[in-house]
Amino acid sequence: MTQDKVKVGVVGCGVVATAYYLPYLMKMDTVDLVAVCDLYRTRTEACARLFGAKEQYLDYYEMLDKADLDAIFILTAPGTHVPFTLAAVEKGKHVLIQKPMATHMDDARTIAAAIRRAGVKAIIEPSSNTLLDPDYAYLRELVKAGVLGDILWFSLAWTGPTTYGPALGGNPYGQAAFYDKDSGGFLFDLPYAPTQIVSVLGACKSVFAQAGIKVTDHRIVPEEKYDEFLAGVTDPDKANYWDVVVDLPRTKAVKMQAVDQVYSMYEMVDGSAGTCHVGRIYHPVLPGTGGGNLQIFGTEGNLLFGAGHMASIISTRKDLLPYVDAAGWYHIPSRGDASKAKWPQPTPGAFNYYHQSSQHLIDCILEDRTPIVGVDWGLHITEMMVGALESSRTGQRYDMTTTVDV
Ligand SMILES: NC(=O)c1ccc[n+]([C@@H]2O[C@H](COP(=O)([O-])OP(=O)(O)OC[C@H]3O[C@@H](n4cnc5c(N)ncnc54)[C@H](O)[C@@H]3O)[C@@H](O)[C@H]2O)c1
Repeated sequence: MTQDKVKVGVVGCGVVATAYYLPYLMKMDTVDLVAVCDLYRTRTEACARLFGAKEQYLDYYEMLDKADLDAIFILTAPGTHVPFTLAAVEKGKHVLIQKPMATHMDDARTIAAAIRRAGVKAIIEPSSNTLLDPDYAYLRELVKAGVLGDILWFSLAWTGPTTYGPALGGNPYGQAAFYDKDSGGFLFDLPYAPTQIVSVLGACKSVFAQAGIKVTDHRIVPEEKYDEFLAGVTDPDKANYWDVVVDLPRTKAVKMQAVDQVYSMYEMVDGSAGTCHVGRIYHPVLPGTGGGNLQIFGTEGNLLFGAGHMASIISTRKDLLPYVDAAGWYHIPSRGDASKAKWPQPTPGAFNYYHQSSQHLIDCILEDRTPIVGVDWGLHITEMMVGALESSRTGQRYDMTTTVDV
């Protein structure tokens, strides 16, 4: 690309767009924020006012036809991700697709083929817990170098929020994004779990799973409260609805129409196997207890996430570690805690996945690079979730058909 700015359009002016992507995009020297699109004019107007989007659309296909765009950020609810991506790439636009890429493998494959055919760049979210985060890239290299020896087993439970009362249980808003059938339910809301496993252990070989709906009735904050919030925001860096929605009364009843609990046993290509539970919890846990942390046990050492650190390793292969404390541990500090670190941290500063993904897509477009969290990555993570549902449906092990080079 010879130009020095990428012309960006955003579809979906909801919470993830205004809290995370738009405040970053508006500050990027390499981005021209040309257009925003949403079904609600109040939201496009708020995005024009707060983030300087030049054009507003209420119809996505009209935006695609009329706006002069290089890349589209698809930040709508999951049910729209497949048709919106296909329409964008067929017009030669680069895309960032919020999670989930798709909730069925045929859709995921159709998207992947279209992206490859068009030769456009694609980021498949989430990029958190992936090799786009240098700390994960570093951990993956340590594991490959043998810091854990042969992996005996691993376990992970991903619950969403575990300590903050109002955020426990289901998402406090977003019926279409998190509760309706085509949202994919809590499994497809939490692809962070398979993502974390693959980022550390490499590609997956098979899955055996049991999935279901345990809690049908939920209450959320009515949709219009988001518009009331946006109307009152004047600082683009203070448009994070999460900061207020968790404390608003949940007065609207919704039904969970997709799975909310999935227990999977993943077999990895490296020969290891472990469990992964994705679901929500409804009451707080105590620090250091409850789910949320990947734990990997090997013949030469253990790798544990959490307990106040980003991750910690104890290993007989001390030669591979830059530092160990008196008890033999190498602790990587939680992101943002670098100033407190007594030991080397691979990358200081907080990792904000929305910002890093935005930056990465734009860099890949301008420098003609292949995104780290691209099509192969998205297909594989999607298949780990789709395969779990398929295994639960058939009662049989699901053998993966995709792979990824990690
Ligand atoms: N909110 C978060 O913190 C968060 C975090 C990570 C990922 N995500 C993902 O981002 C996506 C959106 O989530 P959200 O929380 O922003 O939901 P949201 O409901 O706040 O926002 C979705 C927006 O898309 C708009 N929209 C829906 N259909 C549309 C259409 N046909 N054309 C144009 N606009 C349309 C809605 O009006 C709404 O404003 C989901 O896939 C979700 O999984 C959200």
